[in-house]
Amino acid sequence: MRRKLAAGNWKMNGSRAALYELAKMAETLPEDPPEVLICPPAPYIAHAIEMVGPSIMIGAQDCHTAEKGAHTGDIATPMIADLGASHVIVGHSERRTDHGESDSDVRAKADAGLKAGLTSIICIGESEAQYDAGETIDVLNAQLRGSVPDDIDPYRTVIAYEPIWAIGTGKTPTLDEIASAHAAIRTTLTDRFGDRADAIRLLYGGSVKPGNASDIFGIPEVDGALVGGASLKADDFVPIITALSES
Ligand code: PGA
Repeated sequence: MRRKLAAGNWKMNGSRAALYELAKMAETLPEDPPEVLICPPAPYIAHAIEMVGPSIMIGAQDCHTAEKGAHTGDIATPMIADLGASHVIVGHSERRTDHGESDSDVRAKADAGLKAGLTSIICIGESEAQYDAGETIDVLNAQLRGSVPDDIDPYRTVIAYEPIWAIGTGKTPTLDEIASAHAAIRTTLTDRFGDRADAIRLLYGGSVKPGNASDIFGIPEVDGALVGGASLKADDFVPIITALSES
């Protein structure tokens, strides 16, 4: 059985004061919560860990591929682990677009996360033009081939399917489209990793809100969500966590 995961990506939002939302989330979690993760901006990771204790895991939004060295402004995965954080998001479409990250960059980052003992959340997803052209599954398969390392620990590898056109737009694919994308991802992972792929969790991301969370979590092969905007406030994120725990 895969443990469900509700992951929040704060992107470049928040402040030290906003970390009190985390305390509010920790206090209002449902009784039998799934795994809950928040990835705040890197400067707040240490404060966030102090704020929530063990009930909410804290992760990073990106990392460098190297363990250390002359890379001004970058963050190494052993540093993220050293702070007590448990996860790193790699290959988010905003990184792929804003920073020109390729599949092989993402693969190296995912590998660096795993080597440091972190769980790597590898993001994939098609653009609107690719969606319109009916290329979604081909794009996802190419990204999986390019971005997922060969040497994974399936228990610490998570794939987040995030259609780029659904991120921050309020638009989502239909439930059938999410179901077929997730089924295709599972098949591709099983072809490559065999039974070990069963432990890899698949998240959906892109405009997940309290209003659509239950429907999305009812889809087979959806093991949770990667949530942007709606993870910033306890009043939005806790209902999503609750919907996941009830699914
Ligand atoms: P959103 O972002 O929930 O604000 O659409 C999702 C993401 O980018 O992970």
